[in-house]
Amino acid sequence: MARSALSKIDMSFPALDLTYDLAFARDVALGLTKSGQKELLSKYLYDELGSILFDAITVLPEYGLTRADSRLLERHSAEIAQALPGPVAVAELGSGTGSKTRHILQAFAGRHPLKYHPIDISPTALEKCRLALDGIPGVEIEPLHATYLQGLEAAASRRSAHESLLVLFLGSSIGNFDFEPARRFMRDVRSILRHGDALLLGVDLVKALPRMLAAYDDSLRVTAAFNLNLLARINRELGGEFSVRQFEHEARYNDEESRIEMHLRSRVAQTVRIAAIDRTIRFERGETIWTESSYKFRRSEVADLAVQTGFTLRAEWVDKEWPFAEALLRVG
Ligand code: AVJ
Repeated sequence: MARSALSKIDMSFPALDLTYDLAFARDVALGLTKSGQKELLSKYLYDELGSILFDAITVLPEYGLTRADSRLLERHSAEIAQALPGPVAVAELGSGTGSKTRHILQAFAGRHPLKYHPIDISPTALEKCRLALDGIPGVEIEPLHATYLQGLEAAASRRSAHESLLVLFLGSSIGNFDFEPARRFMRDVRSILRHGDALLLGVDLVKALPRMLAAYDDSLRVTAAFNLNLLARINRELGGEFSVRQFEHEARYNDEESRIEMHLRSRVAQTVRIAAIDRTIRFERGETIWTESSYKFRRSEVADLAVQTGFTLRAEWVDKEWPFAEALLRVG
């Protein structure tokens, strides 16, 4: 494993992937050489294998979040459409697998033809989404390969003067942001929108502790595999020498911050070489790498978030089986 970062990139990556790989290397170096709590960014959980493992998580009995989101959209899509009269274009932040979005698109397309813009930095995810949602009568799919905000700007500028824009941010993805960054992001979204536009925000709610913990520590250990895959990815892409079996998955609830945290705990004292960043990382026995936060909301916090970021909370639907809220926020 004595290959340098450059020779690895030269041998295995087309030129386009170069920058992404360097960003991954930089973020891994920063996160693992921190003096306090070691950290890896949760966005790196979603490589090809990680995305497949996440899709498996969404059908686990313990992980009710995705089913609750889908149920709410299925049951209330007609009301959502009624709340937004007139022609709309729909933009979705993250392209998902499309199954949840279908209900929304069908409800609007029953009224008038519309454009749907899934926005994602992953071309593979965009293509999967297009295949999944292709063929809904009256819906024209125009994927945007971009960051959320850049894609949203493109979607906002492409709609015509009489069309309002409905932005979808589903699945409690907002829960990955810390408190201030979440607000900043919502304000940025708001600044791209105009009077009459709307944001449909899906958020997972605080619930009984054993349910929250089981959702992130399932008995089949799919979530453990999803988390541990990040170390395997560092091995694959950055010439890391993690012995993945020497780490274990941990999910804990941070009550003060109302968030589930995923960690990877070192079972033993060990050192791990990562060729691409030219570093050897030391782990104490029991030391953890923090890999993800999933904030859980109270309903009052959803309302506060809306007001503080320039939206009006127009309607909210809550699933009874799995506390989860779909909040419809309007501009103006
Ligand atoms: C996709 C960010 C909403 O936080 O519940 C699932 C990701 N992590 N199991 C979540 C996730 C572990 C998921 N989000």
